[in-house]
Amino acid sequence: MNKKVTVVGAGFVGATCARRIIEKDLADVVLIDIVEGLAQGKALDLMESAPLEGFGAKIVGTNNYEQAKQSDVVIITAGLARKPGMSRDDLQVTNAKIVREVVKNIAASSPQAILIMVTNPLDVMSYLALKVSGFSRRKVIGMAGILDSVRYRYFIAEALSVSSSQVQAMVLGGHGDSMVPLPAYSSVNGIPITQLLSSEKIEKINARTRKGGAEIVGLLKTGSAFYAPSASVVEMIKSILYDENKILPCCVYLQGEYGLKDIYCGVPTRLGNRGVKDIVEIELTAQEKAALKKSAEGVRENIKKLNLT
Ligand code: APR
Repeated sequence: MNKKVTVVGAGFVGATCARRIIEKDLADVVLIDIVEGLAQGKALDLMESAPLEGFGAKIVGTNNYEQAKQSDVVIITAGLARKPGMSRDDLQVTNAKIVREVVKNIAASSPQAILIMVTNPLDVMSYLALKVSGFSRRKVIGMAGILDSVRYRYFIAEALSVSSSQVQAMVLGGHGDSMVPLPAYSSVNGIPITQLLSSEKIEKINARTRKGGAEIVGLLKTGSAFYAPSASVVEMIKSILYDENKILPCCVYLQGEYGLKDIYCGVPTRLGNRGVKDIVEIELTAQEKAALKKSAEGVRENIKKLNLT
């Protein structure tokens, strides 16, 4: 039997996730949206591309959760995207209402599923999803670190005129301007970037990475990024569905790791068929630790605004 992935939100990110998943034959997909006909139309359009693209996976579109039953993984992208001048935090009130409702429905229809959160502000929405679903922390994971890290990888590759596939890089912390790029854990085919780029150049790349999402919003003007975000979701899905055990930076619930408690924050994790199998604690400099703490405390302030207790 094929694996089953439900994608909630059939907008730019959700529909592109769905397309990547079926074109790679990773799983069958149920695409859900609140707007009547939207998910159905996109699903039908995608199925009609199957004879040419040659995939065997199936996708259906729907407005309810009936067909989402027994999903292995559920990706939540429902909610507003940013417009120029908005921070991710500006989306919180509206998106919290949407995420609450969606997660309640998913918890009822697919209680065994692993949730991948994409809706922004990501760290806060992941926390909300954990509390509303009542799922174990291993099964509620936010997608942000991979996206921030692939942006970092691309900028490093561009600066050095090397193949981006040879660049490894790590960005931790919250998915916002306070994220923490880690040059010491970034390399080109094993060569630390600190040996290839001046500290000024690295600092410029770090700054561009922190604003990577806003750069795209500024160009698009009507919405936010979706190609790199959906590719990042698929990296997580593959590691989970096929138990690849990849170590990937993901937004996870911390209970003391990195000195942080009761908070969602981006850190390296080992992802496999049980979701987060391990949180990997790496050595950080005092400055990096302080930056990670500051980033997490910013998230904590926004979590308080959810009035969960
Ligand atoms: N249930 C299901 N779908 C919903 C709901 C709901 N309660 N509320 C909104 N949606 C749907 C919208 O109808 C829309 O089709 O979510 C979709 C969001 O799509 P877009 O507006 O295209 O936004 P997108 O670019 O996909 O971003 C979605 O991901 O990266 C984040 O910041 C981004 O929070 C945003 C989310």
